[in-house]
Amino acid sequence: MRFDIISLFPEFVAQCAAFGVVGRAGERGVLSVHGWNPRDYAEGNYRRVDDRPFGGGPGMVMMIEPLRACLADVRAADPSPARVVYMSPQGAPLTQAKVRELAAHPRLVLLCGRYEGVDERFLQAEVDEEISIGDYVLSGGELAAAVVLDAVARLQEGALNDAESAVQDSFEDGLLDCPHYTRPVEHALGNVPPVLLSGNHAEIAKWRRQQSLGRTWLRRPDLLDESALSKADRRLLEG
Ligand code: ADE
Repeated sequence: MRFDIISLFPEFVAQCAAFGVVGRAGERGVLSVHGWNPRDYAEGNYRRVDDRPFGGGPGMVMMIEPLRACLADVRAADPSPARVVYMSPQGAPLTQAKVRELAAHPRLVLLCGRYEGVDERFLQAEVDEEISIGDYVLSGGELAAAVVLDAVARLQEGALNDAESAVQDSFEDGLLDCPHYTRPVEHALGNVPPVLLSGNHAEIAKWRRQQSLGRTWLRRPDLLDESALSKADRRLLEG
């Protein structure tokens, strides 16, 4: 999968993609990350990319033309169709379902705003969707783009070592993940739950499901769609 990052600090997002699972996926050729700076497409000695907002008010707005010229080059750099996503607090909330949807595209262009945002005419004309990573305001879209990049990249075929681990992630089944333990079995901070040492895979799966259900119920009841729970799930929640 190909990622193009349009940002005044493209190296910042590319650096985030250089480590861990995503870095390894890049080395294996599972994905590639390309940074683009609209300032390289700005005119004049000052290479200006922003201007004051019409109607007054604080801050600056990113101008249409440097972004348009930059995006034209981005599109031309590869023949696969690009899904253009603008990172913004006004966007639709990022969820694991949305991450899955984005991961199915051959190519994502992540547009990062700075200042007060981007001229609305550019967004209307060129952007396919707007995504927010949460109800708080960052000083730019770069961290949000890095979040999308990471979450989408790890779902690519060949990115994770154990093909199972993405399926077992939190949210893949709409629930929070269960707790995990490793050696030592006994420790001053507590012991590993015996069921995990039993070798009984059916009992282990049941325990994990129960933990997931319980945690979701306690911590994120908003995620629990009770009508979607099976009879067995209901028994686990009650028992
Ligand atoms: N840019 C600034 N804040 C943001 C947020 N919460 N999500 C996505 N992009 C942003």
